[in-house]
Amino acid sequence: MFLFGGIKSLTNISPRNVVVRNFKVAIVGAGGGIGQPLSLLIRRIPGIDELALHDLSDTKGIAADLSHISQWGRVLAFKGDEELEPALCGADVVVVAAGMPRRPGMERDQLMAVNGGLAIKVATAVGKASPGALLAFITNPINMIIPTAAEVLKAQGIFDPRRLFGVTALDVVRSEKFISDFMNISPNGVNIPVIGGHAGITILPLISQCKPGFKGTSEDIEKLTYRIQEAGTEIVNAKAGLGSATLSMAYAAASFVESLIRGLNGQEDVVDCAYVASELTDAPFFASSLELGKYGIKSYPPLPQMSDYENESLEKLLPILRQNADEGVAFARKCLKDISPIPAALP
Ligand code: LMR
Repeated sequence: MFLFGGIKSLTNISPRNVVVRNFKVAIVGAGGGIGQPLSLLIRRIPGIDELALHDLSDTKGIAADLSHISQWGRVLAFKGDEELEPALCGADVVVVAAGMPRRPGMERDQLMAVNGGLAIKVATAVGKASPGALLAFITNPINMIIPTAAEVLKAQGIFDPRRLFGVTALDVVRSEKFISDFMNISPNGVNIPVIGGHAGITILPLISQCKPGFKGTSEDIEKLTYRIQEAGTEIVNAKAGLGSATLSMAYAAASFVESLIRGLNGQEDVVDCAYVASELTDAPFFASSLELGKYGIKSYPPLPQMSDYENESLEKLLPILRQNADEGVAFARKCLKDISPIPAALP
């Protein structure tokens, strides 16, 4: 049986159990509200011998601070567009935490105009500096950013669908927490896949698949589903103009990075959810449970038998995902046409 990886098992990579290779992880946007706690949590993941911190402003202080933590490996600082490729050079995993957050009243899609160019810049740099890396974007709107990045990687001739991820782990973390609160049990014992995308009704927690089995009415399921779908907005409103989820996002993203590293290390049965190029549905990009391995995605477990409510919800979200993918691809094509041949960085 597959169990989801994650922070719960943060210390489970034991040199006694597996042959541990060391990896380089690069974090783009390491100085920001997500980037700093993410960098800290990633320091606790065994098997990383180099952590490269990149941001537009100086990351020297953060790198120095993190390098005093009694963990294996070194932490290096990089600054500005000119040091983006050196930061990414030879990375096994690149995590992108950079980008503008939502303000109250905004939808994630509205961030594309400002964050889309960033996705192009980073995907272009990855293509040059670390074409074999696993590339994971936290940057919103995930539903469009991943199709955009895929298009940039395709234009460079290096797109590998097994290596590009939209981080949707926070939807899983929230589902575990809200469901465990509802059932009055520990979240550590809860396991639930979340499929679809990462915005509004495209986020579909499969409560019918929850382990242990969910105990509640269909009304409870609909209420919990809605809360999980709107949880990001809950934080945006609570922060009242000062950003969106940072700490819980860092927690979830670190858990996902740990799953990637465990997969790279050849551990068996590493499964986590992410938004990726997929043939499971007729949407070209789709979040589902994925088995992770030495080259990124190892297999795409088929969608489970779902409840009627989940099947209906899936039918409603697929057209949105198809449209988001079209918009992401169109965004990339327009930028690539405007700047052909692909430059190192957009202004
Ligand atoms: C989240 O789910 O918290 C993030 O996608 C940030 C946001 O804008 O909601």
